[in-house]
Amino acid sequence: MGKYIIAGNWKMNKLPSETEAYVKEVAAATAGAQCEVVCCTPFTNLAEAVKGAENTHVSIGAENLHFEDKGAYTGEVSADMLLDLGVKYVIIGHSERRQYFAETDETVNLKVKKALEKGLVPILCVGESLEQREAGITMDLITIQIKKAFAGIPASEAEKVVIAYEPIWAIGTGKTATADQAEEVCGAIRAVLAGLYDGKTAQTVTIQYGGSMNAANAAELLAKPNIDGGLIGGASLKSADFAKIVEAAK
Ligand code: PGA
Repeated sequence: MGKYIIAGNWKMNKLPSETEAYVKEVAAATAGAQCEVVCCTPFTNLAEAVKGAENTHVSIGAENLHFEDKGAYTGEVSADMLLDLGVKYVIIGHSERRQYFAETDETVNLKVKKALEKGLVPILCVGESLEQREAGITMDLITIQIKKAFAGIPASEAEKVVIAYEPIWAIGTGKTATADQAEEVCGAIRAVLAGLYDGKTAQTVTIQYGGSMNAANAAELLAKPNIDGGLIGGASLKSADFAKIVEAAK
């Protein structure tokens, strides 16, 4: 299976002025980590986050990027800008961006391709709403999200993508998917990848679960064979909680 990665998604939380110290706190709290540890922060906090992560095992990620290299895109941030700061990861297609900022499967695909072209590691988010789950179309929807996100990407590049399966109904709600529900979809995502590419590529890709993962439920989720890590929102904002999740990932 893919390499274990525990990534925090700070969303629109924490100030630039508190970021360097907090990333240092995360590094200290997760000193014995047996997985990759990532903090994804708002654009404004990235320079401070990279400073805090210097000479530690922690890597820094952004929460979005634009798919063009440069130009007249007021308010947007390019892959080169992120790389210039020392950023390594970038979250792409989070459900909040799809829902509130008109992100589509097409823009997600362009962003994943740009990230790969530039050498950033994309954390590609997919997931169904409660309505879609109840209608029994979870796997149809996720198959479409995966196929569209990977369109035009060769196997040698596809294996570098990190996928985060995040059921929308579990995000920020305290209502986590059961370990079996999460494993079922993560396993099905791997089968879609095997169909698009081959078994080796499917096994190499890191597939995370996200959605109210916390210190109490992380171990059970991470013990599942097709879950290689987590994308953590709320519980990434307190270093002690985040560290317990990292501890569970071995
Ligand atoms: P949550 O968020 O852990 O607060 O549910 C996860 C995410 O949206 O990435």
